[in-house]
Amino acid sequence: MAKQVIISPSILASDFARLGEEVTALDKGGADWIHVDVMDGHFVPNITIGPLIVSAIRPLTRKVIDVHLMIAPVDPYLAAFARAGADIITVHAEAGPHLHRSLQAIRAEGKRAGVAINPATPVSAIEHVIDDVDLVLVMSVNPGFGGQKFIEESFRKLRQARALIGARPIDLEVDGGVTVDNARALAEAGADLYVAGTSVFSGNDPTTYAGRIAAIRNAATTLTA
Ligand code: DX5
Ligand code: ZN
Repeated sequence: MAKQVIISPSILASDFARLGEEVTALDKGGADWIHVDVMDGHFVPNITIGPLIVSAIRPLTRKVIDVHLMIAPVDPYLAAFARAGADIITVHAEAGPHLHRSLQAIRAEGKRAGVAINPATPVSAIEHVIDDVDLVLVMSVNPGFGGQKFIEESFRKLRQARALIGARPIDLEVDGGVTVDNARALAEAGADLYVAGTSVFSGNDPTTYAGRIAAIRNAATTLTA
């Protein structure tokens, strides 16, 4: 049976001077979701964008806006991202002492809740909240920057996360160093949702995005053909 493959290109690698055009190009180029990387210079060593940017791009696409919050504290900002138009809000398990409360707060805003884990965090860290999430995000690089090398241990972690998810209707997202070359192995390890920054945006030529998105999708889909 064919498993649904979701491609969520990360605008972190877009040309921010032309952000609206970049989002429109993704929309037209077959992206399923739009991944938005939010960094605070505290939880991760980089600063990116906030709710104002989410509200600016919201009218440009009807695709799911997949907001990945790499910020701590996170709770004070959840409502702002929800109201800006995020569809999915993902928080890091390492971002604070009250992960369960954060997940409840996201769902209370009427949004789907995701939980992310860093490369050194075991899957067991999310075992007791697995029924409170709609998405599990396995970081396959250390969060903070695009264009990093994929960490091979992530394959084993994806298998463990897939086993934890079992039959639950939870997406398993892999984020960092995803390319057309590793997409098939990622699918075999259990991923069904692929974040791709550099591998979609490199060169920032909008005419290339559709082909790259399709290539990653095809590589990930081969498994079930
Ligand atoms: C890293 C971000 C990723 C990043 C992925 O902290 O969470 O979403 O944009 O970029 P690539 O695909 O270039 O590794
Ligand atoms: Zn991300």
